[in-house]
Amino acid sequence: MPGPFHVGDLMPVTVLIGAQWGDEGKGKIIDALAPGLQMVVRYQGGPNAGHTVIVGGKRTVLHQVPTGILHPGIACLISPGVLLDPWELLDELAMLRENGVDLERLTVSPACHLIMPWHRLLDRAREAALDRQAGPGAAIGTTGRGMGPCAMDKAGRRGVRLGDLLDPARRAACEAGLAAANAELESLGAEPLARADLHAALERGAAGLAPHLGDTRPLLHGVLQRGGRVLMEGAQGMMLDLEWGTYPFVTSTHPSAGGACTGGGVPLREVDQVIGIGKAYCTRVGNGPFPTEFEPGAFADGFRTAAGEFGATTGRPRRCGWFDAVAMRYACQLNGFTDLVLTKLDVLDGQPEVKAAVAYELDGRRLSEMPEDLRLLERGPRPIWRTFPGWQGSADARSWNELPQPVLDYLAWLEEDLGTRISWVSNGPERSQLLRRNA
Ligand code: IMP
Repeated sequence: MPGPFHVGDLMPVTVLIGAQWGDEGKGKIIDALAPGLQMVVRYQGGPNAGHTVIVGGKRTVLHQVPTGILHPGIACLISPGVLLDPWELLDELAMLRENGVDLERLTVSPACHLIMPWHRLLDRAREAALDRQAGPGAAIGTTGRGMGPCAMDKAGRRGVRLGDLLDPARRAACEAGLAAANAELESLGAEPLARADLHAALERGAAGLAPHLGDTRPLLHGVLQRGGRVLMEGAQGMMLDLEWGTYPFVTSTHPSAGGACTGGGVPLREVDQVIGIGKAYCTRVGNGPFPTEFEPGAFADGFRTAAGEFGATTGRPRRCGWFDAVAMRYACQLNGFTDLVLTKLDVLDGQPEVKAAVAYELDGRRLSEMPEDLRLLERGPRPIWRTFPGWQGSADARSWNELPQPVLDYLAWLEEDLGTRISWVSNGPERSQLLRRNA
């Protein structure tokens, strides 16, 4: 007899997250899943994200709007866990409108905390101060989009929310942080923000976003009650999670799967699929430990250029390295992935050999699992490698069975090591280059 919480009775929700340090190719996978969905929800992160979709050679990068917007008929929500930059959002909406995208399907929660213009300035000024005071490498290496300072105000219970911006009676709250922010900016040697400029920005933000304001919770639960499928679109990646990532070199929200419940308003029991997206190798932008990173030099530079590993939001060169099975096992355990998607397989085409870290050696000890004190990784653990024969031509495969045998062997090893099924691989940037496992 099924119990009261039998999963089969419930309306299904898929949570899709980055399983590494972000930039795993989530945009493309969400785009591929979209035809079976009624709703896509962004529930954490903010303008720091950059989700890229390439259709027919045309590249679209979405920062705050859910990727589902590119598919007619899918309702899209930005729910309370997102830190929202209203002015960036307006620019993004203008870009989409110019491309003929119907934006009536987008609803933004009044509970989203706003990244105010001073948050961006503070983000950059604080980063510069860290570098000045503690030397290069001390700064987090943020995207400079104001995430950290906004999250600090949110946690400090003095944040400004979209509802405040859109209610003239509460608009004064939007200016409340300006004086304190300006005092800090000046103490850090940065330009303060003029009150008049802020005023104009508030007016523009309010007028532009009013048509999209709405409660997201009833819309989400309405779809669930009608038996629709909802995808919760994660941003960044597991190893950048505020709680479980390589703190302090992390983002200020929760990219791990649990963030979908707190930030998106989905009850835990309605989630029946958790998809982790990971590259066939690893990348990281910004500072912080990265155990499998390539040694700096010609190989690392050539790999980055060939793989096109430059930030979708900031254009920064990404640090590149081999696959880290220790980090991926950690991600599988914490998020309970039902499926993994391995992306950018084609980037490894032509490598004479392919490596994966199966453990680390630290202070003469073998670590097969991530330590809970991830600052230990800052001491530079030495990866213990497993080496696989390289392959050619994975990009040409049109089905799973057509993948070169060394790839199939590598995938089989990964599944065994991670204890998680790899359900799709992506072998190129185009929509068509996504291979579903046949059995
Ligand atoms: P923040 O989120 O801008 O505060 O940046 C904190 C850290 O997260 C930095 O290392 C950023 O490079 C990284 N980060 C933030 N957003 C992304 C993303 O979308 N992809 C990859 N890294 C990100």
